[in-house]
Amino acid sequence: MTPNRSNSPYSLTRFLIEEERAGHIRPDLRLLIEVVTRACKRISIEVGKGALGGVLGDAGTPGQASINVQGEAQKKLDVIANDVLMEANAWGGHLAGLASEEMDHSVPIQELCPDGATAGNYLLLFDPLDGSSNIDVNISVGTIFSVLRCPEGVEKPADEHYLQPGTEQLVAGYCTYGPNTTLVLTIGHGTHAFTLDREIGSFTLTTRGMKIPEDTQEFAVNMSNQRHWQPPMQSYVADLLAGKTGPRGKDFNMRWVASMVADVHRLLTRGGIFSYPLDAKCEAKGGKLRLMYEANPMAMLVEQAGGAASTGRQRMLEVTPTGLHQRVPVFLGSRNEVEAAVRYHREFDQQTPA
Ligand code: AHG
Ligand code: MN
Ligand code: MN
Repeated sequence: MTPNRSNSPYSLTRFLIEEERAGHIRPDLRLLIEVVTRACKRISIEVGKGALGGVLGDAGTPGQASINVQGEAQKKLDVIANDVLMEANAWGGHLAGLASEEMDHSVPIQELCPDGATAGNYLLLFDPLDGSSNIDVNISVGTIFSVLRCPEGVEKPADEHYLQPGTEQLVAGYCTYGPNTTLVLTIGHGTHAFTLDREIGSFTLTTRGMKIPEDTQEFAVNMSNQRHWQPPMQSYVADLLAGKTGPRGKDFNMRWVASMVADVHRLLTRGGIFSYPLDAKCEAKGGKLRLMYEANPMAMLVEQAGGAASTGRQRMLEVTPTGLHQRVPVFLGSRNEVEAAVRYHREFDQQTPA
């Protein structure tokens, strides 16, 4: 007799195989997702060790912190997470190259693994540990990733081959290491959440087809930057703060974890708007958050869940990238609220001669 499996956990592996059968994903891309998510499980274990594992604190030597390409001090776990992802993918066979927040340039897979490695079809970009300033205080952090197709005929991809708009992403996802470890994934057919079952070491489908409510009364922004914002952001947030008696006619609540993964996970779960706008401090760099491995994968996940993502002046996924580590202003989440923020920018631009 065939055992009744209707109540058995629905694993990530089963989900991906069924998506392959439905023609939504190729076998080599399915296997690449398995490799990346296995690496996330390892990172989750390292993060979970905390002070017991000696993994907290800054990378480098005392008095001389190690600095990454962004000019930011690296945490030990930034380096560990980057190494785990590099090692896992070097031997996967599905990638032509990879790029990380923590590395100046992309790396062709044949350089990473020269022992006869054949180049696969895909390019992987990742933020190995997002929100790492939170790690020492035991607040959620995460990994963000994005997969692009390697251009036809390119065996050894260089940085320029990654500069494709977000609409070209085949896969986007993040894994959040919080009270539980949750993977949120899209292959262009909805956004789905998988919780890590620590007892069996497997990601289990827990929400199929996440849906972001169209309206919200919750916003996320680092308010300490308020005095540095540009006029449209000043007016937008002033109207949120004015509440019920102001032009928006309702009260708003505010949350800011300062880990993008955790803030985005909240809005995918219960709605909200997340923003990291241009401000006088980051204006010269174009923004704070990075387009290729922070804003774009999150934008795809949010759009696939019925939300919207914008720079304030352009749909995020249509931005033409000019650099691997390019930064952009970010507004994403509940559709009507993102549209409201965009409206403040449009109205300001219309009133201000260029
Ligand atoms: P990372 O740790 O990968 O450098 O990213 C940190 C980002 C993002 O997670 C978060 O939303 C933002 O920086 C927090 O910035 P503030 O510290 O300026 O609030
Ligand atoms: Mn980050
Ligand atoms: Mn990071």
